[in-house]
Order: sequence, then C-alpha cells, then structure tokens
Amino acid sequence: MATVGFDYGNLIDVEGGLGDGEISALRPRLQDAVEELKGASLGFMRIPKETQYADASVALANEIRDAGATDFVHAGIGGSALGPMCVQKALHHPQYNLIPSRGGPRMHFAENTDPASLAAILDVAEHETTWVNIVTKSGTTAETMANFLVLRGILGDDYANRAVFTTDPEKGFLNAISERDGVRTLPIPEDVGGRFSVLTPVGLLPAAVSGLDVNALLAGAAQCVEEVEEQGAEHPAVVGAGMHYLMDTARGRNVRVMMTYADALERLAAWFVQLWAESLGKDGKGTTPHGTVGTTDQHSQVQLYMEGPQDKVIELVEVEEHPRDLDIPRLYEDLEGVGYLGGHTMGELLNVECDATRRALTEAGRPNSTIKMQRIDEEHLGYVFQALEVQTAISGSLYGVNAFDQPGVEAGKQITYKRMGRPGY
Ligand code: PA5
Repeated sequence: MATVGFDYGNLIDVEGGLGDGEISALRPRLQDAVEELKGASLGFMRIPKETQYADASVALANEIRDAGATDFVHAGIGGSALGPMCVQKALHHPQYNLIPSRGGPRMHFAENTDPASLAAILDVAEHETTWVNIVTKSGTTAETMANFLVLRGILGDDYANRAVFTTDPEKGFLNAISERDGVRTLPIPEDVGGRFSVLTPVGLLPAAVSGLDVNALLAGAAQCVEEVEEQGAEHPAVVGAGMHYLMDTARGRNVRVMMTYADALERLAAWFVQLWAESLGKDGKGTTPHGTVGTTDQHSQVQLYMEGPQDKVIELVEVEEHPRDLDIPRLYEDLEGVGYLGGHTMGELLNVECDATRRALTEAGRPNSTIKMQRIDEEHLGYVFQALEVQTAISGSLYGVNAFDQPGVEAGKQITYKRMGRPGY
C-alpha cells in the first residue's frame, strides 16, 4: 500500500487564503468532473489495472538482459521520455550507470537532437551489445526519428535484433519500418496520450530492463484509481484540482511551483511540468508550472517565493523515510555555527528545512501545499503519477479545455518539416 498525503491547509490558513464558501461552491463542478472522468473510460485510468503491458515489457526486458546487453538507449522526447527518465532517477542509485553490480545494462536517454548528447552516449556505449528502444506514439516525431536513424547506423546490419519500437499499434512510420526490417514492437495504447503514458510500455520497458518492479508501479497507480472511484470529489487529488483552479481564477496565482525535497524526485517535477503545461495551457488558460529542488533551490529561488510577486502557489513534495541516511558526526562542538549539526542526520536536516520553508512561506502569506510520500519506491511513485494525472484531467474539465491534445505544438513541427524538406509540407 502506498501512503501519500496531500495537505492543502496552507492554501486556506494563510493571509488571502481560500474560504470555505469558495471551496464548497466549487464542489458540484468537481463532482461533475469526476463523473465525466469515470464515464469517459480514459486509457490512463484503465491501464494501471491491466497486466498485458507489464507482462510484455517484462518478457522483452528479460530477453534484453539475458542477451547480455551492456547498454540500453531509450530514444524519445516529451511524453515518450520524461516519465521513463523520472522513474530511473527516482528509483535507482544516482550513479546507476557507474555501479558494476547494477545487474542490468547502462541506461541512456536520447531526447533532444543536440548532437553533443547523442555523440556522448555513443562514446560510452559498447555498440555491439547496445540495444535501442525507439519510443514515439505518433511514429513521426522528427527528433526521435533523427535519433533513430543515427542509432540504426551505429548498430550496423543486425540492428533489428537489438532494436525495439514502442509506438502506436496502428499509426506512424515505425510500424512500416518494423514490417520491413523485422523489429520487435511494444504497443502504446491508442487512447493513452504521450504525457499520460508513463505506465504503458513507454515507462515499463526501461524500468523492467533496469530491474525495477513494474507491477508495483502499476499497483500504486491502481490503488489511486480505486480511491478516486470510491471517494470521487473528496479524493485529495481531485480536491487539489479545485484548490489550484481557485488559486488561479479567484486569486490570480498563475504560477505553480513544485519543489521536491529529494534529489531523486527532481525529474518528477520535470514530468509534471509537461503534464500540467501541455494539458492545460490552452485558450488563454492554464497556469505556469515550474520545478525546483529543496533544499538546493532555497538558495536560488526562495527569496522570490517569499517576497516576489504574489502570483505563485508553492507545492512541496516531502519524503518521510529517505532511502538512505547519513549520521552527521559530532565535531567542532565548541563552534556554535557548526557543532549544533552533530548528532542529527542528513535526512532529518532535509525534512526540517522542508518544514521550515513551509512555515516561513505560510507566515509570509504565501500559499503552499504539500504532497507527502512515505517512501520513494515503485508503489509510491506509481500512486503519485496517477494522482497528478487525475488532478490534471479534472483541472481540464474545470478550465473547459481538452487536457488530452496539444494543438499548440503542431505549428513548430510543421515549419520544421518544411525546412527539413519533408514531402507535402
Ligand atoms: O504529450 C504528448 O503527447 C507529447 O508531449 C508527446 O509525448 C511528444 O510530442 C512526443 O510525441 P511522440 O511520442 O509521438 O514522438
């Protein structure tokens, strides 16, 4: 069981906070939004309870590991990269690729088309034992296709034996190439959009290849789905959609800062930034998401959050039990600015600073909320992914925008195709 708490008290008990009347007035709309979500039978609500994608991902991952892969290059961008990268960063040793006993291939992510990044992967990967996973729902994205073409050239004639295409089962050019070259494919369900796809083979294959428990990821997400179905508008993820909506539309706070008090969760914020921005930024609506890490960014951004424009809601992500902890030795006890740290732990200091930031923000009249994860493991991460996806979908209903499309991304794509000489553009 994942234990994840959502505390919105400091969006209410703060100067200029939300009033009970405003929140209860919104409740019928939240109820309608939940009913709409349930009635729509959306893929992202269904997949946590389905086993076929985990089974297929684990079977292929075992094949890749048994084949002695030394390197696994996941090529994808946006929703085809941010979730898998978040999973790796959250659940693995920070120096995973450097650890000899890691038990699986080194993991690389080819996301951008910056040649320096792909060249650097190619510098360290052993080409004869490298596997590549080309991940694109549409099967057309220029960045991913370019990375594919370069990787294919490097792997040589038997590339098809060490390649996987993770793509829509019907659409896009990877299906045609797969038929031509005999490359294995894994499906991204048609009704699951890119930024909602981390719990499909998009995220599950790289997780399984690197030895993570994909069933536990799904179990955490399924727990969240069940709770949303049971609790409806009372579920904290749904309540949070209402709170953030009111903070924007009734208080003019149109910047949402996610501050993760764990380095491992840095990419959770990056994943969430895409989810929130691309889903809701439409028709002149939406709020601007921003990701930061505590305590590091206390020393770069908290000044702004404390005394800058009153346009933000700060969301702290706190971890109760850190996966590892270190005792701080009792040294220099005669020096008051140093000695007081001895006898505490690093994890304790991190959480005390999280609490200190929360209190300071509240006292300064800066609305803030907290997501509290008991631990960072597969189950808790799966739960948090699902809860934030639910919150985003519900927010789409409140704003009256389609949370599942991204028409604004298309214009730049069309110009790129034309400039690069794609026929028909
Ligand atoms: O959320 C989305 O749909 C987008 O961010 C896509 O994930 C991104 O544009 C990459 O698309 P594709 O997976 O089709 O290559």
